Amino acid sequence: MDNSVTMEKIVSLAKRRGFVFQSSEIYGGQAGAWDYGPMGVELKNRISRFWWKEMTQLHDDIVGLDAAILMHPKVWEASGHVENFTDPLVDCKKCKQRFRADQIDPAKLAKKECPECGGELTDTRKFNLMFKTNIGPVDDGTGLIYLRPETAQGIYVNYKNIIQSNRMKIPFGIAQVGKAFRNEIVTKNFIFRTCEFEQMEMQFFVHPGEDVKWFDYWREQRWAYYEKLGIRMNKLRWHQHGPDELAHYAKDAYDIEYEFPMGFKELEGVHNRTNFDLTRHQQFSGKDLQYIDQENGNERYIPYIIETSAGLTRQLLMALCDAYEDQKVADKGTDDDWRTVLHFHPTLAPITIAVLPLMKKDGLAELAQDIRSELKEEFATDYDQGGAIGRRYRRQDEVGTPFCVTVDYQTKEDNTVTLRFRDSMEQIRVHRSELEPTVKKAIKDYKRV
Ligand code: GAP
Repeated sequence: MDNSVTMEKIVSLAKRRGFVFQSSEIYGGQAGAWDYGPMGVELKNRISRFWWKEMTQLHDDIVGLDAAILMHPKVWEASGHVENFTDPLVDCKKCKQRFRADQIDPAKLAKKECPECGGELTDTRKFNLMFKTNIGPVDDGTGLIYLRPETAQGIYVNYKNIIQSNRMKIPFGIAQVGKAFRNEIVTKNFIFRTCEFEQMEMQFFVHPGEDVKWFDYWREQRWAYYEKLGIRMNKLRWHQHGPDELAHYAKDAYDIEYEFPMGFKELEGVHNRTNFDLTRHQQFSGKDLQYIDQENGNERYIPYIIETSAGLTRQLLMALCDAYEDQKVADKGTDDDWRTVLHFHPTLAPITIAVLPLMKKDGLAELAQDIRSELKEEFATDYDQGGAIGRRYRRQDEVGTPFCVTVDYQTKEDNTVTLRFRDSMEQIRVHRSELEPTVKKAIKDYKRV
């Protein structure tokens, strides 16, 4: 068996086990959009909660926000998105495919030659990535409104509200998780680049002279986050943006890249956005957005902003790719020699403990259900009584369940169960009353080998 990790394997497992489905599949699918199934939504929520805890609970100087997706259209003029948030686009006159000009071989682009069919390409034109829609009953252009292409602007326009309502003092940050929309021209590689996705962004407001110091600090913090998340650190690297890659608002920017099956690709960005956004919002709104530092002689200034901007749905893809393994576990020359296992950190696993009665009969099912009820206040649990026990372990391995509890005839006698560990497949005998502390300790001490 080929044990490489490919995107085909990830897509297939994601569908088979209810992580990710194609949007509107029964109608042939909707490009650029995906639905998260029972396992996917659990995984997504866990990544989001992990990030939220890391950024807010563990940083005293960061508070949260949940701003609306629909914002005043002037926001996007001020932010520069109406003018600058564009991709260079070319169409093939023959096969009608559309490409991003910056992703075509420059020699072919210079000759206007289609990379797919060799046909003639159109001239390059700018294509704005923002989705437009209409608010109100009349669709005559007066109700033009955009679906936000980043969550960041919701934070900037609320920065004064938050200073006033929560008595925040610089330096401080605002964190937000939410949907963003981009009319992406190329949406391949599964959920890597989609038209509808989720971001986890944090904007940190600092004194103008201190931006470089905080930029370095946030680069360190964001790198450490992935280690805590249980990601293999040799799969990550930094990429600093060159002058021609920098977004219109950025003075300096680094991406953290992950080695996906299709190569190293951006996972999240740490950006020094200077005072660009707040200066522009002050200009366009006519409102004074200066910070008044009462502890320093009422010094007034527009803060600089250090942004950490991560894709939640992209982190979910990373979590799947990083966890996936086709592992040889026996040598009998049968299909059963192999198991597919997801080595999620237990904090991320959609199911923490699966409770499995060895048999349905003789009261074992009822006993197992009873144990499950006891555990479910503290853990995400599953119950499975169908098929051979080995098959049931494999099913749990495939969705990354770190612990299985098997209830057998001995349980009836002495109240002990078998606790099986996903990664090592080791099994130990534990008293029912010791299950909760034993699993909690194993989660705390977890290290992927
Ligand atoms: N506020 C800054 C900003 O939005 P970005 O580099 O355009 O910066 C940040 O996006 C992160 O959002 C990316 O690193 C990526 O993880 C995620 N992201 C961006 N576009 C995406 C898309 N079309 N599909 C999925 N994730 C996307």
